[in-house]
Amino acid sequence: MSWREQRNSWTILAVSSATAVLGYYSYYYQWQAKQKKKETPKLPRRLPTSREDAKCLQPLTLPCGLTLKNRIVRAAAFGGSDIDSLLQTHVEVAEGGVAMTTVAYASVSQDGMTFANQILLAQQNFLPDLQKLADAVHAKGSMLSLQLAHAGSFATASVTGTQTIAPSGIFNIAGFDFARAMTRDDMDRVAADFLRAACMAQEAGCDAVELHCGHGYLLSQFLCPATNTRTDEFGGASIENRLRFPLRVLREIRKTVTIAVLVKMNLSDGFDGLSIDDAKAAAVAFGKAGADALVLSGGFTSRNGFYMLRGTVPYWSMARALGATKGLALLLLGRWLVPRIDFEECFFLQQARHVLGVLQDNNNNLRHVPVCLIGGVVSLSGIEGVLEEGFHLVQMARALIQNPRMVRDIEESLPLLSSSSSTIKTSNQTKATTSAAVNDVRSKCTHCNECVVSTIDPTRVMHCPIKETQPQDDNKLDW
Ligand SMILES: Cc1cc2nc3c(=O)[nH]c(=O)nc-3n(C[C@H](O)[C@H](O)[C@H](O)COP(=O)(O)O)c2cc1C
Repeated sequence: MSWREQRNSWTILAVSSATAVLGYYSYYYQWQAKQKKKETPKLPRRLPTSREDAKCLQPLTLPCGLTLKNRIVRAAAFGGSDIDSLLQTHVEVAEGGVAMTTVAYASVSQDGMTFANQILLAQQNFLPDLQKLADAVHAKGSMLSLQLAHAGSFATASVTGTQTIAPSGIFNIAGFDFARAMTRDDMDRVAADFLRAACMAQEAGCDAVELHCGHGYLLSQFLCPATNTRTDEFGGASIENRLRFPLRVLREIRKTVTIAVLVKMNLSDGFDGLSIDDAKAAAVAFGKAGADALVLSGGFTSRNGFYMLRGTVPYWSMARALGATKGLALLLLGRWLVPRIDFEECFFLQQARHVLGVLQDNNNNLRHVPVCLIGGVVSLSGIEGVLEEGFHLVQMARALIQNPRMVRDIEESLPLLSSSSSTIKTSNQTKATTSAAVNDVRSKCTHCNECVVSTIDPTRVMHCPIKETQPQDDNKLDW
């Protein structure tokens, strides 16, 4: 072939690839606009008159028997594996009054790691640190949960040292290589890794584990029809098949440990992946398999990293953290690679209502399974509104990163019934009952998402530009 012909074929290849990529993203944007219309939540609001009247301060007993002292849980937000920094984060938020705090993104297997600074549960090395964390959090009156994950095709081969695995062979965007389809032996081994990790959490004194079945990691890749194209009984068009491996993992953990087993799952992958009907079927199956609570989130890290977050995408900070080549690619293609989606309070509410509805349906016999809303939970009035609707719990990440003592602020904003003299203000009405006003407590988080940058740069400590720090001499806290 002459150089001219070669140049022509390269040009044709480049133009058709660019057309395919642009076609995909324009389709994606149209799909997203349609979804947004469907998802826009009508958030009910309620303000309690006293601490006793506050639903978010009532205890909740999970099916396994664990009692949470209130309804607010600190969500998983990846903060590395350095024990001093984990202690600081989780003790601070425990002191701030949450019922439970979640240690994020602990990898159950070596080949499931995305980051070099991730907790790895494949060996017993982390057990003493986990024990320290559990003791320290318990000393502050809160519970500790450990999130168990395997990144699947979102693992990084340069970190794991092996080829990435996934439900089906696929290009791995995180490590820029190809993930191979898992064999039955891989599945047996990874299921055993999950189980071992859950046992380690129990041995360390954790009160719960959170099985990560969302955000596009391995178990979520199994649930998603776009990433699970297997032709055996673990994949394909039927959700029953795609659920088989995640359910196996959950059942094995459930029948072995006595601590709580929460499941974090997607309502939607944020593209044509898991449908809401799939999510309902998955929620019922997880409930029947013994989940102690379902945490309803969404998004797929490799395709739409900010679907689960919403708000500003800090392109510049992320580009700096990624280094020259990936950073430049992000600046050039960022709008397509990491699309921005507007923030709304409780942005998953509308979709989560469908799952709540199916669990509350008497025919399913699953009313005992608590449902936890996550995503954009930022105010007392919003929390009370969704709890009144029938949700049992909320998880919060950024609001508590910005103000780790928000639960205490809520408590302190409310009078005790015995000494109660309050005014109720709701969004629609102002009803005077007595003399002092009860104001809404709202996080000052602006969804600038600067806190997220530390998750891609291991040298950076999680940073919130407007974090409220604990008063040093806070003697009025009486736990
Ligand atoms: C800095 C940061 C790190 C996160 N890391 C994790 C993680 O490791 N695992 C996870 O399931 N979700 C992670 N998330 C997502 C949160 O758990 C949560 O789903 C999301 O932030 C929406 O909740 P929010 O509006 O209360 O922040 C992270 C979020 C942030 C802000």
